[in-house]
Amino acid sequence: MSIRSYFMAKFYDASMKKMEEACLSEWRQQLLSDVSGDVLEIGSGTGINLSHYPSSVNKLTLTEPEPHMLNMLRNKIDGVMKEKCIAAEYSADALNFPDNSFDAVVSTLVLCSVDSANTVLSEIKRVLKPDGKFYFIEHVIAKDTPHLIKWQKLFQPIWIFMCGNCHLTRDTETTIADAGFQFQSIERLKSIGSPAIVSPTIKGIAINGKI
Ligand SMILES: C[S@@+](CC[C@H](N)C(=O)[O-])C[C@H]1O[C@@H](n2cnc3c(N)ncnc32)[C@H](O)[C@@H]1O
Repeated sequence: MSIRSYFMAKFYDASMKKMEEACLSEWRQQLLSDVSGDVLEIGSGTGINLSHYPSSVNKLTLTEPEPHMLNMLRNKIDGVMKEKCIAAEYSADALNFPDNSFDAVVSTLVLCSVDSANTVLSEIKRVLKPDGKFYFIEHVIAKDTPHLIKWQKLFQPIWIFMCGNCHLTRDTETTIADAGFQFQSIERLKSIGSPAIVSPTIKGIAINGKI
């Protein structure tokens, strides 16, 4: 456990406050209002999504590999959804669940930070039931704003170092499609309250199989 990861966990909620108030909290609410059944969330962090899950969720399994984040997550669960919730210290590239376990998988701001988004998406496909839904909010490369890509590339090395392996130039929409998901919905958004290099964002639902 590094000092950096300790501080990242400790100050994560405070660092996100402006963006949460400006747009993210509303996007989380919109996305998760539709979730139901047995649900897995990857990279749950401090548990920011917890208050947005509807009562249609039967069981919520939260996973987070970073021990400081996990401690904060477990404390938050105790205060919010204790009966329905469990938290496990799993990395999303090696989910210790059988095939076809979940009706839905949720990832918010995680595919930017994993080592291999391809590996994680194949794990998500494996644990999702056929026709299960993948719910995502991810910041991405500025495909429609080429001059911004230049700045994303410039700042990416320091951003990876300072922000827990967070990459600025991932084309996550293409990676999700290449993994064999079909988009039920996708919105291409710009977040407010964050530096421009992290503002291009995708939000949507992708189906594991034919729709
Ligand atoms: C930017 S934070 C997002 C936290 C939360 N999901 C949210 O929406 O605010 C990125 C999270 O991804 C987690 N993470 C990094 N690598 C991961 C991996 N391989 N598997 C699962 N989570 C990972 C980090 O520990 C961190 O909690």
